[in-house]
Amino acid sequence: MTTIFPIILYLTSLINIVLAVDYIPKDHILVNCGTFDRKTTDPDGRIWSSDKGSKYLVSSKGTFRASAKTQAPDVGRVPYMSGRVMYSNATYNFPISPGRVFLRLYFYPNVYSRSNAANAVFSVTVGSYALLRNFNVYKATQKLDVHYLVKEYYINVDSGILTVTFSPSYNTFAFVNGIEVVSMPSLYDNEDGDNIIGASSPFQIENSTTLESLYRLNVGGNYISPTKDELFRSWYDDSPYRSSYMLGVAEVADPGLTITYRKSLPSYTAPVDVYTTARYMTPDSFRNLEFNLTWLLPIDTRFAYLVRLHFCQILSNIDKVNQMVFNIYVNKITAFSAVDVIALTNSNGAPYIMDFVVIMPITKDPKQDLRVELNPSTKYRPQYYNAFLNGLEIFKINNTDGILTI
Ligand SMILES: *[C@@H]1O[C@H](CO)[C@@H](O)[C@H](O)[C@H]1NC(C)=O
Ligand SMILES: *[C@@H]1O[C@H](CO)[C@@H](O)[C@H](O)[C@H]1NC(C)=O
Ligand SMILES: *[C@@H]1O[C@H](CO)[C@@H](O)[C@H](O)[C@H]1NC(C)=O
Ligand SMILES: *[C@@H]1O[C@H](CO)[C@@H](O)[C@H](O)[C@H]1NC(C)=O
Repeated sequence: MTTIFPIILYLTSLINIVLAVDYIPKDHILVNCGTFDRKTTDPDGRIWSSDKGSKYLVSSKGTFRASAKTQAPDVGRVPYMSGRVMYSNATYNFPISPGRVFLRLYFYPNVYSRSNAANAVFSVTVGSYALLRNFNVYKATQKLDVHYLVKEYYINVDSGILTVTFSPSYNTFAFVNGIEVVSMPSLYDNEDGDNIIGASSPFQIENSTTLESLYRLNVGGNYISPTKDELFRSWYDDSPYRSSYMLGVAEVADPGLTITYRKSLPSYTAPVDVYTTARYMTPDSFRNLEFNLTWLLPIDTRFAYLVRLHFCQILSNIDKVNQMVFNIYVNKITAFSAVDVIALTNSNGAPYIMDFVVIMPITKDPKQDLRVELNPSTKYRPQYYNAFLNGLEIFKINNTDGILTI
């Protein structure tokens, strides 16, 4: 017997989903590597299967299963507390329908039996793409001051099988805690090409392009968990990346405003929660001429990046052309000038995205900041001097050798 309470909960969540979903992934594989339990449930309620004797792990030779020795308070049991440790190359094959997928690799560097993940150095390849090379997860988490790490890749699979190979570097080992594969539409492709900032030729994001997701921010909003996103993405608060002496104002959509997706911009582009929150400048038009809304995102030099900006005007008093018009700069270069979101969407409550590619100048420092700035455009004397942003995604683009890491 179920009680009434869960039924109501179930119904309301069902209604939300029915209203929102434009896409249901054909394939969604969640593998909790190294666990002894056939089925495990993560804190979001998602069910993961084990890789023990699974059809995905091609050969378990030279690998073993183990539990993490200690659990940090922010680390969920599933998929992090068990892992597969690999002392020789190990391959997972995932049968999926041809097209784009998100591949997510979950890592918790801890002690697995006698193998301390602090000493694990390894590479991960998918076909001709090097996703990770001589990578030390532990060092990466130390640098970011986090306990665990999720790496996400946007990959095209023609053959119907996604092959992921882990290769330990000389005299060391590889490990992984979880692998997720979600089939998805070509959400980030652009065969006609995206603008390159500071150059006139377009940059094509085509089938041969693999992307690594670096930042996915719900600007002016809160963390959004994978269960609230049709493609199981996580969205983070933008606060750690803001940089200006005036930080702007986080706004939430007026309760009466409905977010309306159009055919050309389906609901899987980003969840409603991304569009109902935004960061604006201050309510004072003249103060807003004295600063830029600024975000600084640390990235690797020597790569090209795809940047996607998400907009949705959520103030109910802004629904006409030339009320709020602004400029967008990337690395101090004008990316778009005099952007009027209402002119582009015809109404408030309507999502809009802008993509462009940034090629980072080569500097001595292997890390530098990708700088995104907004400020009011006064060109056409709009009613308000203000600017806003709802969401920001940044992806690293594989280089000509298919490499995604330094
Ligand atoms: C890109 O890949 C998809 C899925 O494999 C395929 O249907 C499509 O025809 C490909 N496009 C091009 C231009 O090759
Ligand atoms: C393991 O994989 C690496 C990288 O893919 C490759 O260079 C190496 O030859 C492989 N080793 C074996 C023993 O197959
Ligand atoms: C805003 O950013 C642009 C590009 O970096 C810069 O030229 C301009 O001076 C900045 N404005 C203010 C008020 O800081
Ligand atoms: C990405 O890597 C693939 C495979 O090596 C290559 O064919 C493609 O040209 C690369 N893309 C870019 C933009 O360099």
